[in-house]
Amino acid sequence: MANQPLNKKYILLFFLTAIVTVAITLLLVNIFEKKQEATLYPSVFKPVGEFEIDPKVWGQNFPFEYDTYLQTQNDTSPTFYHGSKKFQKLEKYPNLLTLFAGYAFEKDYTEDRGHYWSLTDVKGTLRVNEKTPNTCITCKSPQVLVDMEKMGPENFYKAMFKDVGANYTQAIACLDCHDPKTMELRVKRPAFLEALQRRGIDITKATRQEMRTYVCAQCHVEYYFKGDGKYLTFPWDKGLNVDSIEAYYDQIAFTDWAHTVDGAPIIKMQHPDYELWSSGIHAKSGVSCADCHMPYEREGSVKVSTHWIRSPLTNVNNACQTCHKWDEAELTNRVKTIQDRTYEILLKTEIAIMDAINAIKKAKESGATDEQLKNARYLHRRAQLRWDFIAAENSMGFHSPQESLRILGNAVDYARQSQIEAERLLKNVVMK
Ligand code: HEC
Ligand code: HEC
Ligand code: HEC
Ligand code: HEC
Repeated sequence: MANQPLNKKYILLFFLTAIVTVAITLLLVNIFEKKQEATLYPSVFKPVGEFEIDPKVWGQNFPFEYDTYLQTQNDTSPTFYHGSKKFQKLEKYPNLLTLFAGYAFEKDYTEDRGHYWSLTDVKGTLRVNEKTPNTCITCKSPQVLVDMEKMGPENFYKAMFKDVGANYTQAIACLDCHDPKTMELRVKRPAFLEALQRRGIDITKATRQEMRTYVCAQCHVEYYFKGDGKYLTFPWDKGLNVDSIEAYYDQIAFTDWAHTVDGAPIIKMQHPDYELWSSGIHAKSGVSCADCHMPYEREGSVKVSTHWIRSPLTNVNNACQTCHKWDEAELTNRVKTIQDRTYEILLKTEIAIMDAINAIKKAKESGATDEQLKNARYLHRRAQLRWDFIAAENSMGFHSPQESLRILGNAVDYARQSQIEAERLLKNVVMK
């Protein structure tokens, strides 16, 4: 009992030492981080103009990012389902010819490749012609940001592609994702900002981790051209999942085209990479697009982001193994398993939709009226919108495996309902 005060002293001393140690550690960490940050920016900084579209000029300050950016022109792969090889999807997947009958995608539909090619490929596609609105160029070049500032978004979209976008010379580059003054990530394209605003999200409050997804989500999304002014709009007012997007389109009675074989009012889904990712385990765990597609690499003593944006399957070591301790073969195999499962059901969905198209066609030819066919056609629309949500998305299910199979399961169901409905009509018409 006599030495109790002494104990108290020791305890006090212990805590004091602990606090001092923690403080010193925090200080060191802080100094180290500052040093790291400081070395990201060269000591002699060549200022970059507010609307500098040329990545070479930015590259004088940031040679690593520029050099890796240039590698997006490389063709390293096909992977199992994607990669940078520009193949014709209509040849590899001939079902598409039936599914897109009457729409521009039946003429030309190639696999995507690196950002370096964005301009070459949009100018080269057979889907673009004299009547194409300028809206099409919105996600292909930093010159968009320059002209939007000059013309205003409305006039920019309203113009013709042949008059404005077709003359551009610079593919996607630094200005598309960075503020040239601070180098912070920045989104300037209005469609994304407006869609967030309508959903009550304030982008100025976004965390750095959210921005590592948002810069990609300004382009890698589903969209449509609103009204005669072809105003680029994201259909997110009711939410990001496929059912909410469908409800949005139904409410405004939007249709991309009438299918030429069965007359159904179809919506072409674009590339809902951001939307599908949002429903997956990685999004829920806070893993951003940049984590897998622009992983950190070590350059001397600093961590930098590779700007060679590509399929993570060609870079599993940096893209996945920072978080997962499985070996490369195992990780690759997990992706392949998810993709094979998705593809298996994707194909079954295509067959179900083609059966529906066929049944509606037959019912129509035997004299069923538009009014009678309305429901079967609407069910075809519902099935195809879901199928395309997964088919046009770029990860073959990987960005959100369970949601992908749920969507395809519902698509098969709607397609078969459509077929049954059309066959019932056919029987009734023929019997009469
Ligand atoms: C957990 C890692 C991970 C995250 C996070 C992720 N992706 Fe992916 N992504 C993949 C994998 C794996 C593939 C499949 C690549 C393949 O099949 O070659 C892929 C494929 C793609 C492709 C097609 C690549 C090609 O070769 O054609 C695009 C485009 C893409 N993702 C965009 C995005 C966007 C945009 C986000 C954020 C909204 C995102 N990804 C988030 C792992 C990820
Ligand atoms: C300004 C619009 C835009 C932005 C911003 C953008 N992308 Fe892309 N991305 C595209 C276009 C367009 C293509 C297709 C280019 C082609 O095929 O010519 C593409 C292609 C890709 C590919 C396929 C590459 C390959 O080798 O097959 C991946 C992966 C990808 N983007 C991921 C991302 C990620 C991750 C981000 C954010 C860090 C991002 N993109 C930001 C428009 C954009
Ligand atoms: C498609 C979007 C995109 C494009 C295009 C792009 N960047 Fe980045 N950049 C990013 C992302 C995402 C990060 C990671 C930022 C973070 O974590 O805060 C980044 C980080 C950086 C950094 C910080 C250091 C690092 O590597 O993490 C520098 C410097 C940089 N980029 C320079 C450039 C330059 C120069 C260009 C043009 C040659 C360019 N970027 C083009 C998306 C892009
Ligand atoms: C920044 C960290 C991070 C990166 C990078 C990352 N993952 Fe993950 N991954 C996670 C987390 C967190 C989970 C959820 C695990 C959990 O909560 O148990 C996960 C889950 C998974 C799962 C299980 C999915 C499921 O439905 O249960 C697979 C498979 C997977 N990741 C593969 C990959 C592959 C392949 C890559 C590279 C293309 C990758 N991950 C990149 C963090 C990451």
